[in-house]
Amino acid sequence: MSLQNFLNSLDELVSEARATLGSVETNDALEALRVKFVGAKNGALKSVQKLLGAVEVPDKPAAGKRFNEVRDAIQSLLDDATARIGGGAVVKSESLPDATLPGLRPRLGQLHPITQTIEHLKEIMGRLGFTATEGPEIEDTWHNFVALNIPEDHPARDPLDNFYLATAKAANSSPQDRDAMLLRSQTSTVQIRVMESQPLPLRIISLGRVYRPDAPDATHFPMFHQMEGLWVDRNVTMAQLKSVLRLFATSYLGGDVNVRFRPSFFPFTEPSVEVDYWWNGQWIEFGGAGMVDPNVFQHLNIDSEKWSGFAFGLGVERLCMRRYGITDIRDLYRSDVRFLRQFAQ
Ligand code: PHE
Repeated sequence: MSLQNFLNSLDELVSEARATLGSVETNDALEALRVKFVGAKNGALKSVQKLLGAVEVPDKPAAGKRFNEVRDAIQSLLDDATARIGGGAVVKSESLPDATLPGLRPRLGQLHPITQTIEHLKEIMGRLGFTATEGPEIEDTWHNFVALNIPEDHPARDPLDNFYLATAKAANSSPQDRDAMLLRSQTSTVQIRVMESQPLPLRIISLGRVYRPDAPDATHFPMFHQMEGLWVDRNVTMAQLKSVLRLFATSYLGGDVNVRFRPSFFPFTEPSVEVDYWWNGQWIEFGGAGMVDPNVFQHLNIDSEKWSGFAFGLGVERLCMRRYGITDIRDLYRSDVRFLRQFAQ
């Protein structure tokens, strides 16, 4: 094929494209023209391209150059027509999702059920006039034992029942030494810390982690949380302890809650009791409590003739588990999002 014939075909094509694409009015018509001119299978441009093979070799560069110009010109005519009609790219309707369907909601994180419980407990106790404070999880034996009237030979200090730390400070010390450090086994340490540092009267709670080397099972875990409470004032009585714990339980567990005190023993309270709540038809133990032992006040130079106080320590996991019907404490610490998602706020 001669160069001239080839160029003529290209000219015809471009003028036809100009005429039709310049006046096209609907998306459907535009789509038909797109197929006609640049369709991948039988488009006019494709057919002309095939003729290129028949052009004489010396003419090929000129033919190819012109072909490219025409291809670009047709593409820009298509683009102009598309922009003029305003339909944008022609999208097949079935590929559009139903725009009225609700979107996919991104999953947001949420607070762990124990964190939620802690916030809730703080809020209830706040209404009863208790201020929340915190203490360290790594403690010395003074705060965990000595000041709490737990003597050196007391079984509670046994290395088998505590996580003593191999700190540099404690490296050469035995559990009986004042320098020994451990992960606190109870939040009662915070009673000592606030009485050391804050003026009386005091009405505080402290919520946090405690550690004991228990083998994990449905009701034990080597780390759990306690809510410690301490009220020191003139003439604080056991009757007040009882009503605070009842008011708390009614607020948190709701409904038909009653409180029962069973005589017990803690070195740092006298008298001491175990606290049971009557809930859903049975007595359930939630923690310990009692009147602050005068020996504890003495360690802190507080005059026990002038001041009296009560203290309590409740298990946070127990409270959380009762409220939500959780039967295995380990579920709280498995980090299984299928479990945790149930506690969306
Ligand atoms: N600290 C005690 C425990 O862990 C609980 C307790 C706290 C008892 C305060 C009396 C007063 O078992």
